[in-house]
Amino acid sequence: MRTQVGIVGAGPAGLMLSHLLHLAGIESIIVETRSRQYCEARVRAGLIEQWVVDLLKQTGVGARMRKEALFHDGIKLSFNESLHHIDFRKLVRRGVAVYGQQEIVKDLIAKRLKDGGQILFETEAIKIDGIEGKKPTIAFTLGGASQTIECDFVAGCDGFHGISRPAIEKVLQFFDREYPFGWLGILADAKPVDDELIYAYHERGFALFSMRSEHVVRYYLQCAPNEDAKTWSDDKIWSELGARLAGQARKRLKTGKITEKSVTAMRSFVCEPMQHGRLFLAGDSAHIVPPTGAKGMNLALADVCVLSRAFEQYYKTKRETLLKGYSENCLRRIWKAQRFSWWMTQMLHRFGAGNDFDMRRQLAELDYVSTSDAAARSLAENYTGLPMDGAWRRRR
Ligand code: PHB
Repeated sequence: MRTQVGIVGAGPAGLMLSHLLHLAGIESIIVETRSRQYCEARVRAGLIEQWVVDLLKQTGVGARMRKEALFHDGIKLSFNESLHHIDFRKLVRRGVAVYGQQEIVKDLIAKRLKDGGQILFETEAIKIDGIEGKKPTIAFTLGGASQTIECDFVAGCDGFHGISRPAIEKVLQFFDREYPFGWLGILADAKPVDDELIYAYHERGFALFSMRSEHVVRYYLQCAPNEDAKTWSDDKIWSELGARLAGQARKRLKTGKITEKSVTAMRSFVCEPMQHGRLFLAGDSAHIVPPTGAKGMNLALADVCVLSRAFEQYYKTKRETLLKGYSENCLRRIWKAQRFSWWMTQMLHRFGAGNDFDMRRQLAELDYVSTSDAAARSLAENYTGLPMDGAWRRRR
């Protein structure tokens, strides 16, 4: 097999890259270990920044999002037994949308297949070779037989545990931080406790009240990093969610059938550079943020917007300036998102009992963010998404 850009991984980054390349007249093939059904059911993040809403609409994959996403103009912070509204629309004239990652994945898969795109599901990429030359290859097995794709470039969109980053490990530098807690996440059939997301700071630990629709909630509880989700009974989860929420909202908390339960560890991670030779990393293969800032999928999509534009320059003009600058260009945005995600995380979580100084300091910070327009605007500006520097707009 032969293509222009070989893409490893059919998550939001790989699929969006393939879609943007197609719009620019560039061919790609995606290799994905899992089945289509698995990719479409994988429950992950759910929040998209304003520019992602626009990207989906303007590239022809926004029809269902327009109808089904929940558009939010702010969030609420819960602490000291009361709720505090951060009004994004008033502060930065932008909002965000709640639209599950797997919905974006479904929309992109459908669109790629409709446009004649090639996605090889249940095909495990084994090895990436030749990236220091002009004809890199991706070796994979399909139905027991070994095959290769020859391409001009490889995009590693295969997540934190994929094969792409290890393929260039020798030239990479790593930066990371692990947090001494995880998030127990649930999906439940219940009416949301509020029309906006609530981020709750509490002596017992952090809680987040999000949603997927008018009838499905996505809630999270700070827990131990290695906690077994099975040890949390449904009753314990509901009572803990109630305990961590400010009084006025607690009364509105509706319980319901829990349909999913899982624990995620929390870490911050960046590798530099995000490219070597003809291999380019995008999304979780190059960086991880703790979910408190809701940045993960947005960053992955930002990477591939920058990358698709660089490929477009290469194929139209044979110039490589944007390809050469890919990593540096992306990392500026990534480090700001890392800073914001770390900042939200350190403000909202309990880092172990018994440190009363930290608790007073966190409460002062929450009070400051809730009462100072300057502080609230900084939160709003970062949460709704920093400017995209026209990375995908400019070419149109
Ligand atoms: C989610 O709805 O899954 C979600 C929302 C906001 C976050 C993290 C997760 O910060």
